[in-house]
Amino acid sequence: MKRIAILTAGGDTPALNATIHGAVVRANQLKVEIYGLIKGFNCLFNPRVPHVHLNPLYQEIPELDPTKGGTLIGSSRDYLDPDKKDEIEIIMSRLKKLGIEGLICIGGDGTLNGLQPLAERLPVVLAPKTIDNDLGLNYPSEPDEWLRVNDASSKQGYRYNKNAVSNAVFDLDQIVNYVTPGYATAVFVSAQGVGRIRTTAESHRRIAIIEVMGRHSGYLALGTAYGQPDIILIPEHALDLELLVERVKHIYDLQKNVVIVCGEGIVDEQGCELGAETKSTDPAGNVVLSGAGDALRTKLIQMVGDRYFQLYRRGDSAKEAIFTRKVGHTQRGGRPILFDRFYAALLGSKAVELLLEGRNNAVSILQYNADKGFHVEGYDANRFRDRWGLIHARRMHASLYDPKLMKPSRMGIDYLLPIFTDAIGNDDAEHMRQTLFAAGNLAQPYHSINTDVNKRIRFIEKEAL
Ligand code: F6P
Repeated sequence: MKRIAILTAGGDTPALNATIHGAVVRANQLKVEIYGLIKGFNCLFNPRVPHVHLNPLYQEIPELDPTKGGTLIGSSRDYLDPDKKDEIEIIMSRLKKLGIEGLICIGGDGTLNGLQPLAERLPVVLAPKTIDNDLGLNYPSEPDEWLRVNDASSKQGYRYNKNAVSNAVFDLDQIVNYVTPGYATAVFVSAQGVGRIRTTAESHRRIAIIEVMGRHSGYLALGTAYGQPDIILIPEHALDLELLVERVKHIYDLQKNVVIVCGEGIVDEQGCELGAETKSTDPAGNVVLSGAGDALRTKLIQMVGDRYFQLYRRGDSAKEAIFTRKVGHTQRGGRPILFDRFYAALLGSKAVELLLEGRNNAVSILQYNADKGFHVEGYDANRFRDRWGLIHARRMHASLYDPKLMKPSRMGIDYLLPIFTDAIGNDDAEHMRQTLFAAGNLAQPYHSINTDVNKRIRFIEKEAL
């Protein structure tokens, strides 16, 4: 292969540029040209296929900075429709015109599903990214545990359920793709957020509910344990409200403040997502989903009640004492910490090697075991698919969480330690010291990477169309 392309798909993460950088450095060594496709799969729907040559003369362009969050080539949530065969053929002819012989997609489970139709026509590999840490398998046989059940209320007429009984023993050494770049930085931001909210809760005798991202996976919430919240609620374990109220009161009686972290996808005992349950209408009459943290607050206000706070003069009402904050998009933005940068680069580099070794529809994964530490491998994407061909987002294994304590279990702690013990580099702290209050920040406007990359964007020539 002499020329390959790379794209970033789905929501941004802090480590995307680091992955691209790792890929480009390896491509330079192997004397392969590498084109960055602009805005993910969206670029392929444009007949002129906007792209950037990332390594002219086998040198990476200076805009490609692995310490910068986001992605210099842009991203989108557009995917190919496997049923639109004609469209896929047109896309293939566009890639051919560009002379692309292989493609690296940087993404999560959505991207891996999305690239399947292309992988039947062109060598394609995935380099993983997601702050949710939901790309991978708890054990290699996990895809076989998915079942299709009829469901008239869904668009396709069925939904997927996971077999409640598993044949496999969960073992940290057996996890496929132990952790994904982006996760460590998102935990870093969220855990810091927990620490900062704590002091307000302490000072004003309040109960704070902090909602973190992660969709249906509780890894991000689990990782906030580093910020020492009192209670962590994860989507994989249905909420036990009675028990929660009991614990909240117990902790509040002791220390006059409580900090609760909840994953955005937490569910009630019926399995309904809390965030989708409490609805209000905005001024235009549209239904607004209020979010898991707000829904949980409403429930706690009802169940704890005003009198509990008035009794010891700690507040006038439950409404005043219980508040919510979302860490929001700050948790997936900004500079990646050392762990993410380092392993993202290795995974990007491995993706190039997989293509050049002739692998197709493979994934570069980050493995961990006590003997070898972290190391990268190639994994066949087909092994991620269930028997109907679908790749499911990984849910956090139940044994990483203690539902009584509402915190990581011993195994959860063992899972987190290798990732985070040395996750922050000296340069991460030094970078903040040197840049945050730099005098130039006050005088100079923000200079966006997009301005410079825009000057490098090329298109398929009109006459070639
Ligand atoms: O999948 C990554 C993620 O950040 C989720 O944790 C979150 O639910 C979602 O994306 C937010 O997406 P958007 O950027 O579209 O708001």
